[in-house]
Amino acid sequence: MPAYAAEPAPDRNATAPIDPDAASSPLSLRHRALAVLAEPDPAAKAAAARALRAASLEAGDDAIGAALTLAAAGPVPGRPARPELVPPQKVERRGSLQNPAGRAVLIHALAHIEFNAINLALDAVWRFAGMPAGYYRDWLQVADEEALHFTLLAAHLRKLGFAYGDFPAHNSLWEMADRTAGDVLARMALVPRTLEARGLDASPVVRTRLADAGDAEAAAIIDIILRDEVGHVAIGNRWYRWLCAERGLDPVTTYAELAERHQAPRLRPPFNLAARRAAGFDEDELAWLTGSAG
Ligand SMILES: [Fe+2]
Ligand SMILES: [Fe+2]
Repeated sequence: MPAYAAEPAPDRNATAPIDPDAASSPLSLRHRALAVLAEPDPAAKAAAARALRAASLEAGDDAIGAALTLAAAGPVPGRPARPELVPPQKVERRGSLQNPAGRAVLIHALAHIEFNAINLALDAVWRFAGMPAGYYRDWLQVADEEALHFTLLAAHLRKLGFAYGDFPAHNSLWEMADRTAGDVLARMALVPRTLEARGLDASPVVRTRLADAGDAEAAAIIDIILRDEVGHVAIGNRWYRWLCAERGLDPVTTYAELAERHQAPRLRPPFNLAARRAAGFDEDELAWLTGSAG
């Protein structure tokens, strides 16, 4: 019997060491996503997330372990001792973006978002059983791309004379993961379709400010991130709609209910409607967004 036979299994391998020979690991891809999520070192986590996606491209659907019910043997996500996590109002205010130190505070905040985004994508893979194979493949792709974003930003931060961990950060992204841990529909509604979509709105403003400050390299990283994030929100829309259809729910009213129940952040203009359309939001959803915002 293969180690990842399609039946509920105990979580004895949940935090097993990551097999460096990724393509031949006997563990299911979902077990391995959990192991990468538990990895505390950011660079090691990013590299492992990229390797796991590469392995998944060579693996058949049986290797996913979609039917397995997994449990984390230890705390997730693994995270480094620094950055110190503080309430949002205690996060460092950045100075002028004309100074490298001022830009470093901004780049650090973006790197922290991407570190959390790796964790959120891996969590979507291991936590929710019984989804189609395409769901897991999509979220392994997202984890890979978030790992690239983190790696690019961490490298740019080093050029500015700083490192990831040098400034305090807040934990509100992962708090939404905790609030939506019990239901994949809520997770799709409130992480990719809310928090990542908010990133689509913010990116043009951040990009302009970095370019105006003369940091063309940082602006080019934001371009890569925005390109990929349209795809992440599209993946969120795809699986949110799939789940709504399966449960016989109306996507627009269900979103409003979930946002209220899970205390989603209120979305404020300006909205990047072009990017949101490219990510698959329809006109009813955009009308609800613009009508309820403010
Ligand atoms: Fe990202
Ligand atoms: Fe993303």
